[in-house]
Amino acid sequence: MTIQAVRGTRDILPDEIPVWHRIETAARELCARYGYREIRTPVFEETEVFARGIGAETDIVSKEMYTFADRDGGSLTLRPEATAGIVRAVVEHNLMNADPALKVYALGPMFRRERPQKGRYRQFHQLDVEALGYSSPTIDAEVIELALATLDACGAKEHELILNSVGDRNCRPAYVEMLRAALRDRASSMCEDCRRRADTNPLRVLDCKVEADQAVVEALPRITDHLCAPCGEHFAEVRRQLALLGIPYRLSHRLVRGLDYYVRTTFEVTSGELGAQSSVLGGGRYDGLVKDLGGSDVAGIGFAVGLDRLASLVPPAKDEPRCDVFLVPLAGATLDRALRLQHELRQAGLRAMLDPEARSVKSRMKQAARLGARFVAILGEDEIARGAWTVRDMARSDQQDVPEDRVLEHLKEKANG
Ligand code: HAM
Repeated sequence: MTIQAVRGTRDILPDEIPVWHRIETAARELCARYGYREIRTPVFEETEVFARGIGAETDIVSKEMYTFADRDGGSLTLRPEATAGIVRAVVEHNLMNADPALKVYALGPMFRRERPQKGRYRQFHQLDVEALGYSSPTIDAEVIELALATLDACGAKEHELILNSVGDRNCRPAYVEMLRAALRDRASSMCEDCRRRADTNPLRVLDCKVEADQAVVEALPRITDHLCAPCGEHFAEVRRQLALLGIPYRLSHRLVRGLDYYVRTTFEVTSGELGAQSSVLGGGRYDGLVKDLGGSDVAGIGFAVGLDRLASLVPPAKDEPRCDVFLVPLAGATLDRALRLQHELRQAGLRAMLDPEARSVKSRMKQAARLGARFVAILGEDEIARGAWTVRDMARSDQQDVPEDRVLEHLKEKANG
């Protein structure tokens, strides 16, 4: 039996990489344009970082983490998301002392033990963007604008922004109690998850997708009717600024998100082209998380794009030519000259290749075509006798003799011209 990749993980093969490069290049370019600098944190952390950061009652922490005992008895976890680890790093290195308005982004793999299906993996990748030390609603609108700009820059169309406010530590507890009370006599008729969450995490009931539960969920009290005055004003200003920037959205009081750190603004972008796992990015405000993880009481907001999902929305990249000059040394004695020329071409910055195996000319020409070679330079017995290389321009399908002592300059000029 051949060994296969672990269930829920997958290989991103060379043919798929151009799309990933396009996404990563667009992400880096846009993040820089909006003032974000890259940060790289480890893929595993002390379990505590996520338990405290994301919330012990969330699905992520209670069921989906890859947690293992370290040899010295400590508990480690593969990061299920990036925010908690980034905040841990910001606190550990006092980054906010030097920069009280800190903007960072990260790219990398995340790990969640979810049931694998199309668009849902156990190792997946995120672009994660975080702005710390900003409480103004202006940054909410700006972060959302950046999130959408990233999708646009990658050529992903047909998406919808969904927006909500989940209140804060002032107004949400009373709302959650109201929800718990409303669910007390209704939950018994609901699905198993809802019955459990009605008590442990009533907000998550709003996220229920089970058809039979929808009538009950729709009739529950709505958070947006119970925001305190500061949360209400913050949300109104976010909406005003989104309108100012010409960003359309749909309000949904049911967008509660699966992580406990959110306060006030939450948002998601979904795409109809993705099927059941339709959320391509999600984020929101998390004032209080830095303090929970041992730092000072500063505001925070951010989002993460699911890159595997985004990659499936990006139109396939055109095959980039991978080779400027393909060398075909035909006789044993010509290999040394070809190797020297290949070396010089590469030093000159050109993509030069040859196949040192003794394959037929036909198979080597096929190889040149597969690589999209722009020029093929052939050196055989005849050429040696003439003291010249045969240089073939593949796009124009013509060829010429180029004297050996001119061939390097000739190819440099042609390939750069
Ligand atoms: P999240 O909604 O859990 O938020 O994940 C963000 C995005 O990651 C999702 O919209 C989805 O595209 C992708 N994603 C999540 N799970 C999977 C999976 N199993 N397979 C494939 N893609 C997946 C967060 O992670 C927050 N940390 C975002 C954030 C940053 N909030 C504030 N700052």
